[in-house]
Amino acid sequence: MTASPVTVEIVKSAPRGAEAVGVPVASSGPVPRQLGLSRAALSANGFDGKPGQVLVLPSATGPTLIAIGIGDPSELTANGLRSAAASLVRAAGKRSTIATSLADLEGVDSKAAGQAVVEGALLAAYRYIGLKTDTSGASTLSRISLVVGDKRTPGVRAGVDRGTVTARAVHLARDLANTPPAYLTARKMAERAVAVAAETGLGVEVFDKDKLAAMGCGGMIGVNQGSTEPPRMVKLTYTPRNPTGHLVLVGKGVMYDSGGISLKPSDASHAKMKMDMSGAAAVLATMSTLKALKCRAQVTGYLMCTDNMPSGSALKLGDVLTFRNGKTAEIHNTDAEGRLVLADGLSLAVEDGADAIVDIATLTGAAIAALGPKFAAVLGNDQAWVDTVRGASARVDESMWQLPLAKEYRKLLDSQVADMKNVGGPYGGAITAALFLNEFVGSTRWAHLDIAGPMDSDADDGWLSRGATGYGTRTLIELATAFVR
Ligand code: BES
Ligand code: MN
Ligand code: ZN
Repeated sequence: MTASPVTVEIVKSAPRGAEAVGVPVASSGPVPRQLGLSRAALSANGFDGKPGQVLVLPSATGPTLIAIGIGDPSELTANGLRSAAASLVRAAGKRSTIATSLADLEGVDSKAAGQAVVEGALLAAYRYIGLKTDTSGASTLSRISLVVGDKRTPGVRAGVDRGTVTARAVHLARDLANTPPAYLTARKMAERAVAVAAETGLGVEVFDKDKLAAMGCGGMIGVNQGSTEPPRMVKLTYTPRNPTGHLVLVGKGVMYDSGGISLKPSDASHAKMKMDMSGAAAVLATMSTLKALKCRAQVTGYLMCTDNMPSGSALKLGDVLTFRNGKTAEIHNTDAEGRLVLADGLSLAVEDGADAIVDIATLTGAAIAALGPKFAAVLGNDQAWVDTVRGASARVDESMWQLPLAKEYRKLLDSQVADMKNVGGPYGGAITAALFLNEFVGSTRWAHLDIAGPMDSDADDGWLSRGATGYGTRTLIELATAFVR
């Protein structure tokens, strides 16, 4: 589905054959001689060396030179390098071999620089052309040569290795979320997870409908009730020796969200609901990296997979579901289904004795209304743990913003007949959704990521490519590989 793998190499100088050479240019100070242009000449072409700017300089005799703005070198960060590498790859267009010294810039730690440059390049090169007969839109990038001096080479190499693993994981998450719903049912997702587990050294257990019913996972059974496709819950386990702690990740895997009998209108947003399994995709993608990255924490991942369909057997308003932890909820809107499947997964995470839990879910339109399409909402029951999650997200440039887990709104979920309703009314929907989830985590440290906004991108934009973004994958990898109880 994605293009053939890109070779990343570390070299002492740009190879002769490179079709494009990316030259970093700061916003002040001398212009690299290689460009053969003065600052005035660059400025006359609208290029001032600002972050995000690129200027393509074709040559009749040698490689195309691409000036890449990096701004003030003293303010350069790994996140800036990731964006700069993405801009370079986009500016290089159909050129298939690119050389650049971006990873050699002083000021950013060499490992972080190597990782960021590889991530930016590989993520910008991502295209989903899965079902096109015309494959001319595929990425043509085949080789990236990082020009690095001796001193920084070992660090950059380590970063390149890590960045290759993280970028591949994001490609997996994007591929899964971009796949049409008929091609990726809950059963197919479980098969994929089993294959990924075998390839990446994970334990895996698949729970079918009977098993889920026997376990009392009433949320999974209830949401699946209207569907002809059976549900699957996948439990993935990574168990190193002498773990530093136990982290449990729970992903919403609604393979297609029609809304159920609270049917969604047939608008553009409904057409995105094949991506309602983006949380589960991020969890699977994260799990796939842990062995390669020598993660020292024990990590368990739950993929809560089912679609949400209307039919004669579908869940009805007024029905009451009983979840794995014994709590009950009265259904007031079948389109608030994500919290129902997460409830069972969170209950199991607590039973597993997690030291900390993160759930990740395309949960509410309200999170998009509050924060727009670029930011995830993060809420949780422990400020230090929320801050740890925010720290990981900041390091990988996946934006998130905290909303309050406002207990004063809990009464909006009160039900006459059950422990709670599954919706809390028209306002503060991202908060009331999180308050619902809070009923299933007990006193375990927990953070909830509502990724409804950043699950997809309308346009190619730096290291985001149009379509599914794989958002959350790199944050969760960062979190897991740094996790200490
Ligand atoms: N999957 C949707 C949320 C969503 C909307 C994700 C748009 C990505 C883009 C979720 O299951 C849903 O339908 N939520 C409802 C909840 C409401 C009924 C309380 C919503 O946000 O409208
Ligand atoms: Mn829904
Ligand atoms: Zn949904």
